[in-house]
Amino acid sequence: MLTRRQFAIGAAAMTSAGIVGRRIAESGAIDFNTPLPIPTLIDAAHQGNAVSLKIAAGRHAFVHGKPATTYGYSAPILGPVVRMRRGDKIEMTVENALDAVTTVHWHGLLVPGDCDGGPQQLIRPGDRWRPVLNVDQPAATLWFHPHAHHDTARQIYMGLTGMIIVDDGADARLGLPRTFGIDDLPLILQDRSFASDGSIEYGTDGLAIVYGARGDTVIVNGAIAPVAKVPPGLVRLRLLNAANAQNFVLRFSDQRRFHAIASDGGFLSAPVPLTQLTISPAERFEVLVDFANGKAVVLETGPDEAMGIFGRLAPDGSADYVPVMRFETTTTKPLVKEMPTRLVELSAASQASAVRRRQFVVNSGICMDRTQAGEHADMVALTGINGQTFDMERIDVETSLGTNEVWEVVSAGMAHPFHIHGALFRILSIAGAPPPPHLAGWKDVVLVEERAELLVTFNQPATRAHPFMYHCHILEHEEAGLMGQYVCA
Ligand code: C2O
Ligand code: CU
Repeated sequence: MLTRRQFAIGAAAMTSAGIVGRRIAESGAIDFNTPLPIPTLIDAAHQGNAVSLKIAAGRHAFVHGKPATTYGYSAPILGPVVRMRRGDKIEMTVENALDAVTTVHWHGLLVPGDCDGGPQQLIRPGDRWRPVLNVDQPAATLWFHPHAHHDTARQIYMGLTGMIIVDDGADARLGLPRTFGIDDLPLILQDRSFASDGSIEYGTDGLAIVYGARGDTVIVNGAIAPVAKVPPGLVRLRLLNAANAQNFVLRFSDQRRFHAIASDGGFLSAPVPLTQLTISPAERFEVLVDFANGKAVVLETGPDEAMGIFGRLAPDGSADYVPVMRFETTTTKPLVKEMPTRLVELSAASQASAVRRRQFVVNSGICMDRTQAGEHADMVALTGINGQTFDMERIDVETSLGTNEVWEVVSAGMAHPFHIHGALFRILSIAGAPPPPHLAGWKDVVLVEERAELLVTFNQPATRAHPFMYHCHILEHEEAGLMGQYVCA
């Protein structure tokens, strides 16, 4: 196995490496002339809590005048934002009009294993799947995406990502910005590489498997360097990192302060002031940004510390931060100007409540065996979790409904974003220290650089037929076997 340093040097030497921001850095000035696309809002309650999604291929021009083949949920790319109310039962109908087998996983939604949409729940081409989703969790920003083993990474890269908003009334009670598309914006952050004809280039060379697929261009809601017009007051951004592998290190070009108000599983106890925020694959943060000064500002992403020299944005290291998108203010009246000082009561996260402790060593050590990852690979990110690669026939962990456990996650090879299905957790420690305040709330994925201790709450059932997954959310790592399954009864 290589050390992280050798790994970084080896990787940088490979010219096929996609490095986020290269294209932007090379192209010089950015004009930000594409208006930020806002996904369609489906408010489930407005349509009798019955929601249909059609998964199909489409055409979408990332590069002007050069349409590419893409995938989407009832859209050429990405999908709608589905708003669900706590306490409602949503009858979903998902139709697969792709020519590939897929699944739909409701990432972060607390539902039993048999409607979670994991790799066992295949929807064949032409078929429909009708899960009933019982929404019973606090307000949060969640998402949905495919989970068909060995094709998850490609399908997401082609565009299959949608957002879910769970509403429990707290937004109105707290007076938070909540006018969708105006002062409450979904921002789906991804990176992609494009061929000269504008088509999506999904790299499956050895490097992509070792590091995960990384593109050279940042996209937001499917657009390159878009511009959003926002009212001159407080604006809520629902940030979702839906990249296959890239961590985004976000800040504003004027280094203004903003506040994190929610993480994956819902609100934090109070707004957390930040000037920079790292968001790893599958993580969500809701942030409040104040545009009262009326000035335009650029959201930027910087070097990915967790990736060593490979995390640099420009090949020569010159552009430390590259633009993601621009915000300009309108002259309308702001809808919200004041930020609440307190958000929700969070219970204390205490080890004492745990019935047991388990350790998960997530290892992406390299080996040269071609057979381990199919025909794509010369080098294979292998090993897996606790020395075992994913096996759909094997149940790795048995948990008990209504209990808490401490899961200690140890990262080997590189930093891994570790995700658990069907449960939320609190971070007890990360790299040996208590979590910083914006990581102290409820989560379902955490970027583990060395080790982290998680207090996981199990309150959803999952059987052997439909177990829950836990895995690295670098999608190429997941595909290479950094995934396990647990049941809960
Ligand atoms: Cu985003 Cu296994 O999930
Ligand atoms: Cu990983």
